[in-house]
Amino acid sequence: MHIDTHPAPRLSLSDAVALARRLYGLSTTAEPLAGEYDSNYHLTAADGREFVLKVMHPSRDHGFVEMQCQALRVLAERAPALTFPRVMPGLDGSVIASIPDAAGATRLVWMLSYVPGRPMATVRPHGPALLTSLGTLLGHLDAALLDFRHPGTDQVLKWDLARAGWVRDYLSHVKDPRRRALVERCLARYDAEVLPALPTLRHSVIHNDANDYNLLAGGPRAELPLVTSLIDFGDMVKTITVGELAIAAAYAALDQSDPLAAAALVAHGYDQVLPLTDRELALLHPLVMTRLMVSVVNSAFRQTIVPDDPYVTITERPAWTALERLEAITPSLAEYSFRAACGRAPVPATAKVTAWLEEQAAGAASILDVDVRTAPVQVFDLSVGSLFLGADPEALEARRLSRAIAAAMEESGALVGIGRYDEVRPIYSAPQYGAGDDPLAERRTVHLGIDLFAPAGAAVYAPLAGTIAVLANNARPQDYGPLLVLRHETGEGVPFYSLYGHLSRRSLEGRRVGDRVEHGEQIGTLGAIEENGGWPPHLHFQLITDLVGLGADFPGVAPASQRRLWTSLSPDPNLLLGIPAQRFPGAPPSLEQTLAARKSLLVGSLSISYREPLKIVRGWRQYLYDSDGRAYLDVFNNVPLVGHTHPRVVRAIQAQVALLNTNTRYLHDNINAYASRLTGLMPAPLRVAFFLNSASEANEVALRLARAHTRRTGMIVLEHAYHGNTNTLVDISPYKFDGKGGTGRKPWVHVVPIPDDYRGAYRRSDPEAGRRYAEPVAAILAAERDIAAYIAETLPSVGGQVVLPPGYLREVYAHVRAAGAVCIADEVQVGFGRLGTHFWGFETQGVVPDIVVLGKPIGNGFPLGAVVTTREIADSFTNGMEFFSTFGGNPVACAAGIAVLDVVEDEGLQANAREVGGRMLADLAGLMERFPLIGDVRGSGLFIGVELVRDRITLEPATAEASYVVNRLRERGILAGTDGPHENVLKIRPPLIFSHADARLFVETLAAILEEDAVAR
Ligand SMILES: Cc1ncc(COP(=O)(O)O)c(C=O)c1O
Repeated sequence: MHIDTHPAPRLSLSDAVALARRLYGLSTTAEPLAGEYDSNYHLTAADGREFVLKVMHPSRDHGFVEMQCQALRVLAERAPALTFPRVMPGLDGSVIASIPDAAGATRLVWMLSYVPGRPMATVRPHGPALLTSLGTLLGHLDAALLDFRHPGTDQVLKWDLARAGWVRDYLSHVKDPRRRALVERCLARYDAEVLPALPTLRHSVIHNDANDYNLLAGGPRAELPLVTSLIDFGDMVKTITVGELAIAAAYAALDQSDPLAAAALVAHGYDQVLPLTDRELALLHPLVMTRLMVSVVNSAFRQTIVPDDPYVTITERPAWTALERLEAITPSLAEYSFRAACGRAPVPATAKVTAWLEEQAAGAASILDVDVRTAPVQVFDLSVGSLFLGADPEALEARRLSRAIAAAMEESGALVGIGRYDEVRPIYSAPQYGAGDDPLAERRTVHLGIDLFAPAGAAVYAPLAGTIAVLANNARPQDYGPLLVLRHETGEGVPFYSLYGHLSRRSLEGRRVGDRVEHGEQIGTLGAIEENGGWPPHLHFQLITDLVGLGADFPGVAPASQRRLWTSLSPDPNLLLGIPAQRFPGAPPSLEQTLAARKSLLVGSLSISYREPLKIVRGWRQYLYDSDGRAYLDVFNNVPLVGHTHPRVVRAIQAQVALLNTNTRYLHDNINAYASRLTGLMPAPLRVAFFLNSASEANEVALRLARAHTRRTGMIVLEHAYHGNTNTLVDISPYKFDGKGGTGRKPWVHVVPIPDDYRGAYRRSDPEAGRRYAEPVAAILAAERDIAAYIAETLPSVGGQVVLPPGYLREVYAHVRAAGAVCIADEVQVGFGRLGTHFWGFETQGVVPDIVVLGKPIGNGFPLGAVVTTREIADSFTNGMEFFSTFGGNPVACAAGIAVLDVVEDEGLQANAREVGGRMLADLAGLMERFPLIGDVRGSGLFIGVELVRDRITLEPATAEASYVVNRLRERGILAGTDGPHENVLKIRPPLIFSHADARLFVETLAAILEEDAVAR
């Protein structure tokens, strides 16, 4: 349709208000709205209802408006739950009115309900949820319009993907020859694939312009935004139905590092509502590219008319980038990706190939001299959670791994070692293409072949006859080494391939691509480590049903997020090897199976972190790895003090447990050595140690000590404190007894305010805050004779990563001692150098407790707890009753404890906590200027709290926002948690080996998340 683009006169706002009153009987205010040709107004009625008044350009005809009104009516009837604009009838019952304008032209007027929301283009983030919801919305829209008919939809539009051929005559406007060539290739594909298929595709009326300014998105605070509506139905046209999805997917692909993945998410959402046909799935890739091609050619043409229009150039750049990236993807691979995203068998040919191979398997020739079907074999667990590999990457070094495999095979008498197909492995550290050196980028982890470990030089035979399709020397590290690919065909002529990697170069000499290789003919021999991509000698054997243009670069390992796609391209090669299934140990349970088993076997009150639970199977230094091999930066688990699975600690435990583990009724030097080390780190008179298996047990002992020493019972505790999971400790933990399921305070427990100088009664600006917070302790002691002890964390962690005001504990301890009670310091969360400036939390307050309780990080994860006290208090406890803990102080636990202290000292971890934590605190404090949501940043060393508030004056806790932030951090690969009475404090307590780069990554990721709509607006 041609429309006159001369601007039409705009009505004044008061004219718009008058029109609304006259035509619709509404009393409103009016604001102008953008509109290319027509004049649009946002009206707000006195009762709060909102509308869009549309005064059309004089060249618009009645049918054009009527078409939209009818379509919107159909949508209101068929998709009532969706928030599309509704057409508002006038006082006279008609939906379209006409008025003369100032220039004497006739203007059509109609009115719609106003749909709230923000243009998707300005919404952050454009993540999977948003993109899927976009597809879902369009699916509902198109489903509702499938049989909609209106003469107005027979428009001829340049944006109609069934008519994209017009760009041919405009190619000369694309000045850059490289880009012009790209458009020419796109056009050639359009001509060859799309045009001939058009008559075979579904046709219906579609919106045809689901661009990211017409799409509206939004959602409740602290939730990911979703696409909620679509406006501007003026480009509706009857055309290929799938055009709707292709247009939206083209916009979704803009500014995405993986445009295909973004487009596939939209397709996934669409397909769930309106299932796509195989043919539509096959044409999505060229159609998305067609939309981008039309865009860039249109921009190039517009530039010749309006040379410096910045709007044109701004939208053009991402379209070129997306087009280039999409073109780089092999068309069949793109089709398979869309099929995978929509739950179809990704590679249709695979079913035929596997069915045929099943028939052939019995007749296949043995691939090695040893018959793997019958000979003794050993299956190796090379998965992320493999106990054979362990977490230390050194074990993956080729020679070490070769030796380990050879030794295990020698011991078991196996002739061939087997590495499994579809196994998620930690071995391939090379990031995915384009991922840069981001430590959290997705790695390729899923093994697509079967490994057959055998000595270098072993002969390899062709199980089936074929012709050589690829010969290459993939000599890069972690690659296949010299490899050969054979092409085969099923009985029906469906081609497929078999790949043999890690051969010896010499054994392939003389071979040529195109040569025939007979059934059972020797292909080559296994190469040695040096020519083998750095792997132990083995054959990597893989089946491939479509080389997707990758030839020698066809991957042997795929990212877990694309597991369905690649395992469909490379089915299980055991189809040809025929190793009996019972010789493979079962694959590890999936995340869903693990979750279900846990729910049925374990108590429901065990909580699970994050909206999307994680199945963690490996830990190394500051990283945890899930069962897909994805790495997460651990910033909140304070137990692995010196890093997960620190080799020195692991070795100390292993060595001792392999020699002796027994109880304290025998003399042993470990317990003495450890007691001496630990008490040596404390000031006098803290010289006597008790060892237990957990901090809970240690707190129990601390209470017994205090009660035995004072012959009293009562306890003074802080609000929201937590000290452990036993009966008595729940009784002294307001976090529990006042929390969900709690049974309230016992009479002997006395709770004093948490000295929180951000949120509490006395604030940081008050130099007397410490003394003032101590007064309630004095008051209780004055009123109550039976107080045995005051117990508190020296920096309350569960209470919200609180830093006590200066002088607080000095005052409190003085009151407590004056009343004849004792002071217990719970150092379970903060001890062992984490605070950077001091080794223990009590030192930051310049006090010496009577009893110190230790746990959590003390054994770097090995169950261990300790109490350190004075000789005097210990003697009060020695009243004739034996103190015995079966495991407490055992030689293994003490070996772990000693190793942890060694590492903290030798690696200078306290100093690292001070430096890295200090810098991180400053950087986080810097974020406060940009993000009002951050109310406070506090802490010491690598013990940091970031408190989120909705209002810096009222301090209204931003609890939902904090939950959003930690869940988004988890999605981005960073594990953090919340704490505090309102669960609005981000707790940051990483292993003390945390580096400046880790801290930077955390701060930058946090900042990016705080920019997102859910928390920024
Ligand atoms: C301050 C404090 N004390 C004691 C404990 C009890 O430790 P455990 O669970 O190791 O017994 C905890 C555990 O979270 C704690 O945070």
